[in-house]
Amino acid sequence: MTKKHRWGIIGCGKIAQKFATSLKTIDNAVLYAVASRDGEKAKSFAKTNGAKLWFDNYEMLASHPDVHIIYIATPHSLHYEHTMLAVDYKKHVLCEKPLAINAIQTRKMIQAARNKRVFMMEAMWMRFNPAIRKLVEILNAKIIGEITQIQADFCVELPYDKLGRVFNPELGGGAMLDVGVYPLNFAYLVFGEDPIQAESSAKMGETGVDYQSAYMLKYKSGAIAMLSSSVEFNKPNEAWIYGTKGHIHLPLFYKPQVIHIHMNGGSTETLQIPFVSTGYSYEAEAVMESIEQGRNECALMPLHQTLNVIELMDRFRNSWGFKYPGE
Ligand SMILES: NC(=O)c1ccc[n+]([C@@H]2O[C@H](COP(=O)([O-])OP(=O)(O)OC[C@H]3O[C@@H](n4cnc5c(N)ncnc54)[C@H](OP(=O)(O)O)[C@@H]3O)[C@@H](O)[C@H]2O)c1
Repeated sequence: MTKKHRWGIIGCGKIAQKFATSLKTIDNAVLYAVASRDGEKAKSFAKTNGAKLWFDNYEMLASHPDVHIIYIATPHSLHYEHTMLAVDYKKHVLCEKPLAINAIQTRKMIQAARNKRVFMMEAMWMRFNPAIRKLVEILNAKIIGEITQIQADFCVELPYDKLGRVFNPELGGGAMLDVGVYPLNFAYLVFGEDPIQAESSAKMGETGVDYQSAYMLKYKSGAIAMLSSSVEFNKPNEAWIYGTKGHIHLPLFYKPQVIHIHMNGGSTETLQIPFVSTGYSYEAEAVMESIEQGRNECALMPLHQTLNVIELMDRFRNSWGFKYPGE
């Protein structure tokens, strides 16, 4: 009989619900326990999603001996505290993006996971999407030749709530940490290295966080990435990858279900690659596969690239003179 990995969820918010829905599609995973600051919310979330146990505090879940892997689904500024709590109890961790609000926290989290010999990964679900995995194959095969330029945006108009996690600096709000992390991570996925030049520009909003920001990266090959993010207006959120032999267009690049390949001679090909359920099962499966293979990080989203992205975001925030409370 296949071993069932017992998952626990910390924070019963919106993404936790989507993740729990996806978990149900995986044979060797079970949502075993959930924890909320509010007992009634935890109880209701457990009932909706078939979890055996629910707790009204996070530490009870983290310390429960039958919970193997913990998914952290709290606001950015709390990822550090909640991940460290889980790691302290020797739990494997999948923590929502960004892994932490800055590189100092990220390095401490990575070190703690290494010391306790537990698995840790940033829940950058984009990288596990079947179409993105296919894209990587296409790029490695150099179908469009050498990459010359990429463009990617993640701009969404999110409901304004100055106390909510998206706009509130206390909760690690701002466009770059919330959605800019996707195009920046995408650039690392495509180029696999640090840029040799990186510049950015931000519009800071009334709550003190960036409501929109844009990033321009240059690589040693001369290739350029033009990326942007916003939490106050919508864009189509596509990615374009230009190469010496053709270009690729990814509609909704962070969760694509289609890849358009356009060759310079005029031929085009469209690949349809749908994902199942809410799309979060792939990252969960990758976590479990890594753990079964005795690996404490996942090759598809290695911790050093999580750190590379957060270091870049630190640099950009420094250039805007923007610090989160307590930094
Ligand atoms: N991968 C994706 O596609 C995706 C999409 C959206 C968001 N995210 C990420 O997921 C994380 C959570 O986002 P979300 O949209 O699910 O947020 P959310 O709906 O606000 O849920 C966050 C949860 O964190 C818990 N929490 C603990 N302390 C809190 C505090 N002081 N203030 C507010 N909430 C607190 C709450 O759960 P309890 O009340 O149950 O304790 C809350 O429901 C963020 O890191 C975000 O970047 C990822």
